[in-house]
Amino acid sequence: MARNILIFDTTLRDGEQAPGNTMTPEEKLRLARQLDALGVDIMEAGFPAASEGDYRSVREIAAEVRRPVIAALARCHERDIELAGEAIRDAARGRLHVFISTSDLHLEHKLKLTREDALALARKSIRQARRYTDDIEFSAEDASRTDLDYLCQVIEMAIAEGATTINLPDTVGYAMPDEYGAMFRTVMGRVANADKVTWSAHCHDDLGLAVANSLAAVAAGAGQVECTVNGIGERAGNAALEEIVMAGRIRPQLAQFTTGINATEIFRTSQLLAYLTGSFPQPNKAIVGRNAFAHEAGIHQHGVLQHGLTYEIIKPESVGIPRSTLVLGKHSGRHALERRYKELGYELTEEKLAQLYKDFTTLADRKREILDEDLLALLHESFHDAPEEYHLRKLEVTCGSVPAHAGVTMTGPWGGQRTAQGAGDGPIAAAFAAISEIIDRPVEVISLQLRSVTPGRDSVGQVFLQVRIGGKSLSGQGASTDIVEASARALIHALNKERHAERLEATAYDATQHWGV
Ligand code: KIV
Ligand code: ZN
Repeated sequence: MARNILIFDTTLRDGEQAPGNTMTPEEKLRLARQLDALGVDIMEAGFPAASEGDYRSVREIAAEVRRPVIAALARCHERDIELAGEAIRDAARGRLHVFISTSDLHLEHKLKLTREDALALARKSIRQARRYTDDIEFSAEDASRTDLDYLCQVIEMAIAEGATTINLPDTVGYAMPDEYGAMFRTVMGRVANADKVTWSAHCHDDLGLAVANSLAAVAAGAGQVECTVNGIGERAGNAALEEIVMAGRIRPQLAQFTTGINATEIFRTSQLLAYLTGSFPQPNKAIVGRNAFAHEAGIHQHGVLQHGLTYEIIKPESVGIPRSTLVLGKHSGRHALERRYKELGYELTEEKLAQLYKDFTTLADRKREILDEDLLALLHESFHDAPEEYHLRKLEVTCGSVPAHAGVTMTGPWGGQRTAQGAGDGPIAAAFAAISEIIDRPVEVISLQLRSVTPGRDSVGQVFLQVRIGGKSLSGQGASTDIVEASARALIHALNKERHAERLEATAYDATQHWGV
């Protein structure tokens, strides 16, 4: 009989922790709402001791997102547990997730603790955590490389102290499926009261086995799987949520589990995350990659046309990938736009529709056919996670010979317009030089990624930018059929986010708190 397993999503914590995936608290809240629509059971909203931003976003998510359990991570440190406990205070159902390394390698070289000291510290920390909530998850970090007798000793203590979920992570993605499943069987068979807790798998993908290991743990009796959307996470990433969920759906007889995930929200969630972080899944990524349902070879195309199941084990619609029924263009009206967004799963308010229709007509003047991807780019572009104080008013570039020149006119917090000229190796560098002149601060580009939203010469280019301005790393994105304009917009978006962050810092919840890992 198939069991229902809990999906513990850690996109906002383990996923966000990886380089390049940083999100602002506003972006995290947007993603949290979508994870709620996706139907995750538990959402790990962050690591409050890591930064003030993390603390704030866990608090905001806990206060707003009411259906799933909201988890906050803490090391076995008093201050971590206090901050995590406070951050989930307003949650409808809050979980405190306490972890400590248990492998000798980590104890000796990272924590410089003996096994006995780590055991005592974990015991003290679980007791402290219980003052905030009864829903306690305990993780034995690097469990898969931990001596089994010691692991059982620590876990038995954690259960006795009141932990309700026990997580045995494969922290460095080292385990093989049989081995990982066997570890669960052994520990669950040996510790007292194993049947009183939920067992959880948490796998990293260093050997490309995170999903296989998670499935092995489920087969061995785990009732919860920790995973991330698009498999983002430390190093090679975490187990991908969409792959675990669809493995259960497509092979129910073998997988023997169900989940509460609303699969038709998978693609939307994947895309939102990619737009927020600027990191799109590789084209051949299972379930959500651009090519996951594309059939190039003639023999495959022929087969799929005769019968979908010949080469397609998953119907794209079942994971929410829209089948385009309508191509929009210059002459399409507001109703057609509204209908298409509805078909894509987005109900728009009158105000949002009016704003998007305006952007749509501007785009339609530049691009003959507006495809779904364009509409999604317009939609994501239209959510301003920071008030727009800086605006691009005019951009003119001349290029083709070095140096390129740009003239930029902007409005900003100073009031009125400012215009400056800039020169550079290419038109984007010239535009950035002009903006830097206007804001009177040097702009150092860390990375600039350009993505074409759709195929074709008139495609919309989407720019994801990371810059350093005044010692601060900032990110921004912009879209346009003109990539120089898209880049300038991305820089202006980063400036708006910086202003917004400065305001928030000035009005922090509690200026006396000290953060820092
Ligand atoms: O990979 C890991 O071990 C973790 C723990 C904090 C659960 O992310
Ligand atoms: Zn992890």
